[in-house]
Amino acid sequence: MRIGLAGTGRIGAFHAKTLSTLPGVDEVVVADLDTTLADRVATELGIVSAPSIDALLGSGLDAFVITAGTAAHADLIEAAVARDIPTFCEKPVALDLERTIALAELEARSEVPVHIGFQRRFDAGYRRVQAAVAAGEIGFVHTVRAATMDQAPPHAAYLPTSGGLFRDCSVHDFDIVRFVTGREVSRVFAVGANKGEPFFTEAGDVDTAAATLVLDDDTLVSVTATRYNGAGHDVRMEVHGSQGTLGVGHDTTLAITSAEEGVDWPPGPRHWSFMERFLPAYVAELTAFADVARGAAPSPCTVADALQAFRTAEACARSMTTGQPVDLADVPGLLAIAH
Ligand SMILES: NC(=O)c1ccc[n+]([C@@H]2O[C@H](COP(=O)([O-])OP(=O)(O)OC[C@H]3O[C@@H](n4cnc5c(N)ncnc54)[C@H](O)[C@@H]3O)[C@@H](O)[C@H]2O)c1
Repeated sequence: MRIGLAGTGRIGAFHAKTLSTLPGVDEVVVADLDTTLADRVATELGIVSAPSIDALLGSGLDAFVITAGTAAHADLIEAAVARDIPTFCEKPVALDLERTIALAELEARSEVPVHIGFQRRFDAGYRRVQAAVAAGEIGFVHTVRAATMDQAPPHAAYLPTSGGLFRDCSVHDFDIVRFVTGREVSRVFAVGANKGEPFFTEAGDVDTAAATLVLDDDTLVSVTATRYNGAGHDVRMEVHGSQGTLGVGHDTTLAITSAEEGVDWPPGPRHWSFMERFLPAYVAELTAFADVARGAAPSPCTVADALQAFRTAEACARSMTTGQPVDLADVPGLLAIAH
């Protein structure tokens, strides 16, 4: 299999390395608007680079992986689907709701599979909770707590093209809440704050946010996110049911210090980035994508799935701006999913 990858920044170089080690992958070819960067990454990994994205897409690919900045995703998905190339794209699908809806409609009309990179769906802990909830092992679920805490902010230039904290970061929590509970979000109330670098405010973003989600079976969900967690990269979830509680991320690496006398758990070492925290999940999702590209499996996370998470992010952004709760029924996109 010959796989092309567009965008050799932080996650692109990381995914290119993983792809080049997958069984059944014969060649990985990378490209970036910054051709010097693409050449450098290719040399470091012992793979090849293409001189442009067009040259890459026209070079006879069996599969295409999009790890460019979010603003480029929608055009690249359209270009790949037009060429009948099975495509993996990092989250989110687009910067805005309209474009995400248009891509969900394109997906519904097309036979070309598109897999969106919500890697938590491939994390062993989240999968175990999903299976336990589906089997009724913790009774009925009434409360969920989900948190994403980056150790340090991304570079300032990343923010204006990220879509903001809810669409860029909490969107992972919104997706995994759907995946774990099997329910849809019906209502949200969200707030945000900036207590760190002024470049967040200058980019119209916040560095810390909290949202309450009400699911369609009245499960109550608390989602928090911050770009400043000096304790380490901390992504976790607690699912509380009538018969028990399950936790994801509660292993020896949990980036927390107990204030209780004589308690020295967790012993560490801690994760400092999403790459360490989710390494096995990233390998599993790209392995799954190779199966999708071979025609051996359907997309495990479609554009329609990503649209649902994005609608929640959109609702939270609106709620934070207006100070009012937002019903998901008032956020466009349901028709695109129903197709
Ligand atoms: N799933 C995850 O855990 C995860 C983690 C990090 C980033 N991401 C997503 O991956 C994407 C990239 O993030 P990053 O942190 O690697 O950003 P980055 O800024 O480090 O790299 C982005 C790269 O894309 C290139 N680029 C921009 N437009 C392009 C185009 N039209 N064609 C080809 N290359 C183009 C840039 O030159 C840059 O090298 C974002 O959409 C982000 O949301 C996902």
